[in-house]
Amino acid sequence: MLTKQQNEELTQVGPGTPMGDVLRHYWYPVAFVRELDEFPTKKARLLGEDWAVFKTADGYGIVAERCPHRGASMVFGIVETDGLRCGYHGWKFDPAGNCVEILAEPDSSAKFREGCSIPAGIAQEMGGLVWAYVGEAPAPELPRYEAYVMDGIRDIGHAVIPCNWLQIMENSVDPYHVEALHGNYFEFIAAQQGTPMPGSFGGNRHEKVAFDNFEHGIIKRRLLVGQDEESDDWKIGHPLVFPFKMWVGGNGVFQMQIRVPVDDTHTHVMFYTVHAPEGADVSGDTRCVDYPIDWIDDNDRFVVDYIEGQDIMAWVSQGEVADRTNEKITKSDVGVVACRRMFRDAIRAVSEGRDPVAVVREPHDVVKLPLERSKFGRGSQFATDWIEHGSMRYSPIASEMKQLHLDAAAARTELGQT
Ligand code: FES
Ligand SMILES: [Fe+2]
Repeated sequence: MLTKQQNEELTQVGPGTPMGDVLRHYWYPVAFVRELDEFPTKKARLLGEDWAVFKTADGYGIVAERCPHRGASMVFGIVETDGLRCGYHGWKFDPAGNCVEILAEPDSSAKFREGCSIPAGIAQEMGGLVWAYVGEAPAPELPRYEAYVMDGIRDIGHAVIPCNWLQIMENSVDPYHVEALHGNYFEFIAAQQGTPMPGSFGGNRHEKVAFDNFEHGIIKRRLLVGQDEESDDWKIGHPLVFPFKMWVGGNGVFQMQIRVPVDDTHTHVMFYTVHAPEGADVSGDTRCVDYPIDWIDDNDRFVVDYIEGQDIMAWVSQGEVADRTNEKITKSDVGVVACRRMFRDAIRAVSEGRDPVAVVREPHDVVKLPLERSKFGRGSQFATDWIEHGSMRYSPIASEMKQLHLDAAAARTELGQT
């Protein structure tokens, strides 16, 4: 249980708030590369502020949405080789936000223009996404987590949902919900609706769970009834990636769950999935498909007959910002407690002028994170169950990906692998 003030400190993401200062140490996806290829400007709301993202011949940029002249939206600006020009009166800004030209006043002084700059971040492309950093200089490295740079077919279901990002992060260190929400509740809904229940998610009873802090967040381990301590779920586990992701998968499916804090009460959730099963040749294939997922139906009811729809129901139904002043935290919430501690430690680090955890300053080729190879001890059925009964069911390439995993499993059998 937290006080109202502690809850606000942990959940507010705007500029000048303690957590807002922590979150401004990281890079966030603000567009799909595809979107800016189709049209070179896009609005992005990030950490409670509105931005215009754009693509020039030289690269990507991000500036505050409001033009400093008289407040028109820079989203409707003209993209030039070296900057963005406001569509209203033609004031031009370079990617660093300097006002470099006032169209109607060619003789404007440099001194006047200096006072007319626009807040700017930096942006670059990786893994089919455009990433932005809007914190203080010097910017840390954009971490090249394996998901974004590995070979494999990318499949990204996404939605903006009306809740604070922290309750989604708490879910990442809450293994028991898999047994209840994706097991018992799924069975209940399947029975009510007469729809199928995926075999891989039924009957996963937890014997114990454990959490270890590491340099990118918290590794979560589970031991299910019937497993021994040599199982991947216990020995390897998978991590909450601080402060807005979880790396999960197994059996040839690799997924970074990305939760971009849009503002205090909205989060852009992305299920960034890479299909790369052993036995399939995906070398050099990094195509990237994105699509919206349904989480609420025409009658305003949650769509709960698939895995991530169940998660979204839980996250959103906790309230726009979960009321932690009234909860009853107990032994089985040990991961949630560890998560809050890590966020509080990050606030302290930043207030003392240090980098919080998972800020990467060293240039690197790839950051590899722990991940189970075999999930819940299941074979390729885990992958096909996830495609059929998870957010990937909305993917335009769902059948193709299912076939990819079936063919890969057949190829592995031929080679005598499991
Ligand atoms: S409002 Fe942007 S140039 Fe006038
Ligand atoms: Fe879940």
